[in-house]
This record gives sequence, C-alpha cells and structure tokens, in this order.
Amino acid sequence: MRLESPMRIFVEIMSEKIVIAIDGYSSCGKSTLAKDLARELNYIYIDSGAMYRAVTLYVLQKEIDVNDHEAVVAELPNIQIECIYNQEEDKMETLLNGKNVDEQIRSPWVSQNVSEVSIIKEVRAFLVEQQQRIGAEKGIAMDGRDIGTVVFKDAELKIFLTADIETRARRRYEEVQANGVAMSYEEVKHNLSHRDRIDSSREESPLFKADDALLFDNSILSRQEQLRLVLNMAKRRIEEAQKRTVKN
Ligand code: DC
Repeated sequence: MRLESPMRIFVEIMSEKIVIAIDGYSSCGKSTLAKDLARELNYIYIDSGAMYRAVTLYVLQKEIDVNDHEAVVAELPNIQIECIYNQEEDKMETLLNGKNVDEQIRSPWVSQNVSEVSIIKEVRAFLVEQQQRIGAEKGIAMDGRDIGTVVFKDAELKIFLTADIETRARRRYEEVQANGVAMSYEEVKHNLSHRDRIDSSREESPLFKADDALLFDNSILSRQEQLRLVLNMAKRRIEEAQKRTVKN
C-alpha cells in the first residue's frame, strides 16, 4: 500500500540516512549528544573514544610501556574490539577480546594513559578502519576527536562541541563520583587539560574543528535544549540528502 502524499514524503525523508560526526574536547558531552541523536533517529551510536580506551586497557594489562610504540603496535593483531548496543539498558557496550570492559576503560588508570596511546599512527589506522566499516551504511552518530576531519570527512552533519573547562571538569567530577572513583576535582580538571593539550597538539590527526563543522558551545544548555537544536539541524540535513537522492 502506498501512503498518502505528505505522510509518504515524510517517511521517505526520514528513511534517508546520514552520518553525524561529533568532535570536541574531553567531557563536553559528545557521547551524550551522539547517543541522544541516535536514539531519536534510530541510528547506530559509536563512542570512538571507548575504542582508544580499550586498546589502552589491553596495553596496560600486558604491562607494556605506552611510550614504547613498537611494543604497542606489535600487540594490535591480538586486539579485537566490538561495540555493541545494549537496547535494554540503552547504552553501548565495549568488548575487548570478547569481554565487557565498560567499567575498566573509565578508570583513572586508563584515562591517564589513553592520550599517549592515541598519538600512535598505527593505533589510529587500526581503529579508523574499523570505524569506517561500522559507518559504511550511514545511519550513524559517532563521537570522538577526528570523526569529521578523518574518519567521515564527507559526513552530512559535523558538530564541534565545546564548553568551558570549569563546566567540563564539574561534569566529569560528578560522573567519577557517581562511579565511586576516588579523584579530587583538581585531579579531574588536570587530567582534562592534559588530554586537551595532547589531543590538540599531536602530529597524527590532531583535534581541530573541520571547516564545515558547526561550532556548538553547550556550557549553558541543558541536555534537552542541546538535543532539540542539533536534532533540528540533523533533520534539515536528512531532507537535503533526500533531495539530492531524488535529483540524481
Ligand atoms: O572521548 P574520550 O574522552 O573517552 O576519549 C579518550 C581519549 O581517546 C581522548 O583523550 C583522545 C582519544 N581519542 C582520539 O584520539 N580519537 C578519537 N576519535 C576518540 C578518542
């Protein structure tokens, strides 16, 4: 059965899938936004940072020095990462060689070493290839540091998220407290600044805003306000993509 005109057009528009790339500094709420968008649009959600964290956890567990790049790279063939969406709990689960590592990858141990592992060219190539494969069919919201600049250069919607350092430190501090991690506010803030510095200044795929990314400061926005604004942008981009498809 064919639906009546306006409804049919609406369904067709919403069936056009796009790629949403969200980049930004640590603890800007990128994952929250990507997850909220994916839920609204029925898209896949991937937190690419979790993949870098999983590699870091593996390396640390093997007692390899994160600064010994050769040793880290030699382990890559032994690392298998899977990102699975747990519908019941509405969250992404990260499996490292078949084992759920969600809690461990958020530990201070991993947070303090992940930026060092992320500067390694081969680690990035290893993960970027997997991320591109996951997003090949579109219908994905992925967050990270190089999603709009490297992983999905042609993403239909690119957001560069930012918030002031005090807001970010407070958000992350509340998160670590809720998880029962013993870290002071100052330690949390220092870790964020440390990662910002390395992530933005590294040679390989540094964090920067793509020319065609929309800069979005969410310091004074609630989760709902942020979602409403970006969802409207996403819907506009979906309509544009649909028009291009119809034209061709
Ligand atoms: O998003 P996050 O804070 O969990 O990411 C952890 C680290 O992983 C971050 O400090 C830098 C690195 N990362 C990256 O280099 N590229 C990405 N696409 C995602 C994360």
